[in-house]
Amino acid sequence: MANSAELTVDGKSFSFPTLEGSEHEKAFDISSLRDQTGYVTLDRGYKNTGATQSGITFLDGEEGILRYRGYSIEDLASKATFLEVSYLLIYGELPTAEQYETFVNSIRRHTLVNEDMRKIFDGFPVNAHPMCVLASLVSAMSAFYPDSHEGNGNTDQHIIRLLAKLPTIATWSYKRSLGHPTNYPKNNLDYIPNFLNMMFALPVEEYKVDPVVAEALNVLLILHADHEQNCSTSTVRLVGSSQANIYSSISAGIQALWGPLHGGANQEVIEMLEDIKADGGDVGKYIDMAKNAKTTGFRLFGFGHRVYKNFDPRAKIIKKAADDVLNKLGVNDPVLEIAKGLEEAALNDPYFVQRKLYPNVDFYSGIIYRALGIPTNMFTVMFAIGRLPGWIAQWKEMREQKEPIGRPRQIYTGATLREFVPLENR
Ligand code: CMC
Repeated sequence: MANSAELTVDGKSFSFPTLEGSEHEKAFDISSLRDQTGYVTLDRGYKNTGATQSGITFLDGEEGILRYRGYSIEDLASKATFLEVSYLLIYGELPTAEQYETFVNSIRRHTLVNEDMRKIFDGFPVNAHPMCVLASLVSAMSAFYPDSHEGNGNTDQHIIRLLAKLPTIATWSYKRSLGHPTNYPKNNLDYIPNFLNMMFALPVEEYKVDPVVAEALNVLLILHADHEQNCSTSTVRLVGSSQANIYSSISAGIQALWGPLHGGANQEVIEMLEDIKADGGDVGKYIDMAKNAKTTGFRLFGFGHRVYKNFDPRAKIIKKAADDVLNKLGVNDPVLEIAKGLEEAALNDPYFVQRKLYPNVDFYSGIIYRALGIPTNMFTVMFAIGRLPGWIAQWKEMREQKEPIGRPRQIYTGATLREFVPLENR
């Protein structure tokens, strides 16, 4: 490829280096653009902006490829555990047996949450959305581990704490919404069974983790574990670039994930499918509403993706998993049929075909969560538990690369200088 690009502005020519990633994506390095030309770029939503150079996740939206540290998502989802994938993302290589044991055991030993955090939790209204509670309590963790912002302390220790405590905190909201006592973690259980036990065990009866449920959750968490520079991950990196501590940065990522156009879409999907069912299952009506989004304001949640323009490889795995899990658990969920009908109708409709709108990871994930007994308002929390190792890996990489503080420019369109008018004259 050419190793420089020429730009002509106001009759003058400027040269900018180009660069190429290990998977051949090409970029203009415009770091010196403003200094050289006096111009900045305008790229709403950063559709054409590479914010960083990263060695963590590769995705090719045209080919539907997703890889963590070079390993295909298909391989990882079928062969690895979520904590193996977490280690891979955070430390760059699959762990050896010894490294894995140390990692898993450290996480096991840090699952308890400081009892004083309970007092903060108790101050939330009973019906508080669990994403709000999660983000707030993760933010509060920096108060309990002040070395995280006093020189940043031992990062590996904070990483273990986050991975260990997020599932514990996540289950609190659900338990309280039912009026049930919260469960303490049980360190003889593996990561996912421990989470399921905290979610579903009751003091009055024995709870046995169903391996089908644990396996399905393992796959879902792996599929969500990282997705390069998406909205929440960019948020984590941007917040962390000011040297904010890891807890504050991850808390900001959780808030960004909550939005319905990002991770919050999984809750929206199920609510939309339920609405369609209650409305007689007329899929065509909703397809028409989505096609007229400009007047109806309605979008098909779980459809479309900023980067995938052919198919979302995660959605393929999830669609198959949804069939398998529902079969194995003997669950007959009528919204699965509605979802399939909606997908088929959309994939055959020129509006969706022309705009390259395909089901994304969130389209079928809610159906599986529901079959596993996870309530709708916890879906995005599940996404956050899955995405946590990706956020951590990206935060760590950003720090290790000593990235400068994130500070975009703007094209100012407001009023030009005007004279102040005293209150009595306005
Ligand atoms: N239903 C109907 N029309 C859509 C949809 C949709 N879900 N998504 C995009 N469009 C249309 C949009 O109206 C626009 O049409 P036109 O060119 O006529 O104005 C065109 O497709 C391009 O849309 P866009 O908003 O410019 O596309 P984007 O790449 O900026 O947005 C998106 C990507 C994911 C925000 C969007 O597709 C969307 O809102 N989808 C629904 C929410 C959703 O499922 N989000 C989960 C994303 S995957 C999980 C994650 O990683 O967060």
